[in-house]
Amino acid sequence: MTEQRDNQVRSREYPDPHEMNKPVPPAVIAIVAGLLLWAVSYIVSTGRDDDPTLGDRRTVATLEGKVKGAVSTANGADLYAANCVACHQASGAGLAGAFPPLAGSEWVAGPDNILANILLHGITGRLTVRGATYNGAMPSFKDKFDDREIAAVLSHIRANFGNTAPQVSANVVQRERAASKARTTPWNGDDELAKLK
Ligand code: HEC
Repeated sequence: MTEQRDNQVRSREYPDPHEMNKPVPPAVIAIVAGLLLWAVSYIVSTGRDDDPTLGDRRTVATLEGKVKGAVSTANGADLYAANCVACHQASGAGLAGAFPPLAGSEWVAGPDNILANILLHGITGRLTVRGATYNGAMPSFKDKFDDREIAAVLSHIRANFGNTAPQVSANVVQRERAASKARTTPWNGDDELAKLK
């Protein structure tokens, strides 16, 4: 009896669904193939204008293009944050006994040709800043920065930390770089820098 009812129940069930033979429409294949062709030809035909050797060291100044002599404090701020804060601090106050302050410094406000030379070649030996004597090592930036970048970072330190000296032009940096081309060592503190005046 139960067996009979079971069979009745089974015979009322729907058959299992199964996949139908429906191939992808040719139109869809054509569209996908067309897109693929276009994508490949796009990659091949698009010229790359960013030099991969620049890597992560590219600065805003590099990406903005080579505008001769242009100075922007925005670049200077970026360059300062990336290259100077470790020693001279974000506030420009330096670290007593180790790194001299840029805030209120007579070197920052002084002649722009000397300032350009400080960045180009660096300094070692005794250096007097705001009455205190330092004897550290300021690195050279002549290979790292171009004239425009040195001008931008110098203009930045001259317009910040309470300093109000005029901007430094890239032409001054270019002139000083050419004049001191043969130099391979840092300036020897007060003694040598004083002679540049
Ligand atoms: C590794 C640490 C270090 C870094 C990085 C550094 N400096 Fe210096 N800087 C010094 C030291 C040390 C002196 C003093 C040198 C001496 O005692 O002979 C100095 C001196 C100076 C001076 C002259 C003295 C003064 O305080 O005004 C200026 C201007 C200056 N640095 C600007 C910069 C700028 C701009 C940058 C970034 C592009 C920079 N420095 C990066 C360590 C550094």
